[in-house]
Amino acid sequence: MHEPRKLYVKSFGCQMNVYDSHRMADTLAREGFVETQDPAEADLVILNTCHIREKAAEKVYSELGRLRKQKQEAGSDTMIAVAGCVAQAEGAEIMRRAPVVDLVVGPQSYHRLPELLAEARAGKRVVDTEFPAEDKFDHLPAPTRAATRSRGPAAFVTVQEGCDKFCTFCVVPYTRGAEVSRPVAKIMDEAARLVDQGVREISLIGQNVNAFHGAGPDGTSWSLARLMERMAGIKGLARLRYTTSHPRDMDDDLIAAHRDLPQLMPYLHLPVQSGSDRILAAMNRKHGRDDFFAIIEKMRQARPDMALSSDFIVGFPGESEQDFEDTLDLVRKVGFASAYSFKYSPRPGTPAADHAAQVPEEAKAERLAELQRLLEASKAAFDESCRGRTFDILLEKPGRQAGQLIGRSPYLQSVVVNDPPAAIGDLLTVTITDVGPNSLAGIPAEANDTSVSQSPASSALSRPLAAMEA
Ligand code: 5AD
Ligand code: SF4
Repeated sequence: MHEPRKLYVKSFGCQMNVYDSHRMADTLAREGFVETQDPAEADLVILNTCHIREKAAEKVYSELGRLRKQKQEAGSDTMIAVAGCVAQAEGAEIMRRAPVVDLVVGPQSYHRLPELLAEARAGKRVVDTEFPAEDKFDHLPAPTRAATRSRGPAAFVTVQEGCDKFCTFCVVPYTRGAEVSRPVAKIMDEAARLVDQGVREISLIGQNVNAFHGAGPDGTSWSLARLMERMAGIKGLARLRYTTSHPRDMDDDLIAAHRDLPQLMPYLHLPVQSGSDRILAAMNRKHGRDDFFAIIEKMRQARPDMALSSDFIVGFPGESEQDFEDTLDLVRKVGFASAYSFKYSPRPGTPAADHAAQVPEEAKAERLAELQRLLEASKAAFDESCRGRTFDILLEKPGRQAGQLIGRSPYLQSVVVNDPPAAIGDLLTVTITDVGPNSLAGIPAEANDTSVSQSPASSALSRPLAAMEA
């Protein structure tokens, strides 16, 4: 009997990478690999990388430096593979800069991992960053019941990959390629299998998830709303989410799905990037600030307790103080429950990188700090509005202290519960008793509690932040 070989996969960046890492692990499980959390004992290390900003891309090289040292000190023959978007964008460069790397594999070639590994083991340094004709999803095996269990009751399913929008700052259309949707039947099979294995919540993911237009069983092209309506019929599936959406593709059917599907959580991540029409045009976003407000308005009509999240970039080339003020104004008007914000990072090969009017680093840093203060206040106000409210949480993992479990609220907040009368994978109705910076705390709601409501204070959501502070 051979010892099983050990695999360590580290994911950087977005949820799609987390999903892809699982699929790589599933593929290699068939080759006799078991996963480990310790890179030092691994026979194969895969870094699943992110290229979205320079900082993210540089992380791979520092990680490779650490691995090289570890390999030298231990005298081990661990194989090192680089996957993901840095692999796709800089395959040859990685091989040149990091001789420790045995294999570079782009996101569209993960199904070829077993053969690529065999080539690498035979002594070749392998780079595969093709966009092959065959569909990788047809060749990636499904996870075993044990693997699904170990990943918890909330799972991701990729429904769409790639992007045709070409925002002028973004590398995704180059690293992930053109937009492709998976067929509805394949998505349904994968989802039903996950639910059968104990999953209670599915997040449908894609770089442009609401541009989904997969082939339906009837031969026509289905929208994301239609797909989710079908998925809501899977018995045992308690919750549905989707990310990441583009404002341009936020159609009325999708908004109506938030009104009509009880499984669809009242939380939307909708990147706006900037509150200035001038900058949005320069970014090639294909929407203005009023379009964004109109979507939010419709969403709140369909689902009054809708919580919103977004992405922001400060210091895009040509951004003036007034443009930045417009972004602050948009944040105050919408009131976000959470948000991600970044300094603009010029990415080689994208149009904005060559723009003459780059914003100085200092101004970018100041603007980011100011925006983040505002977004944090907005998040704190939203969290505070949940105090005393009662809603279901999906218990996902143990907490730090004995007896604690951590679950997610409908609005994606972490909620800690002491000694819950329930187990991981259960939905538990809780009342929020404490609000901290990173999580909430709750107690199981009394069965006869008449104040039970599924929505947090919608007043805090629909009022502008200035009014909340007053
Ligand atoms: N610089 C800074 N942030 C970026 N993003 C994408 N490209 C860049 C860039 N070049 C941000 C956007 C996007 C999120 C995933 O990353 O806000 O929505
Ligand atoms: Fe990048 Fe824009 Fe496509 Fe989003 S929509 S992945 S920001 S190009």
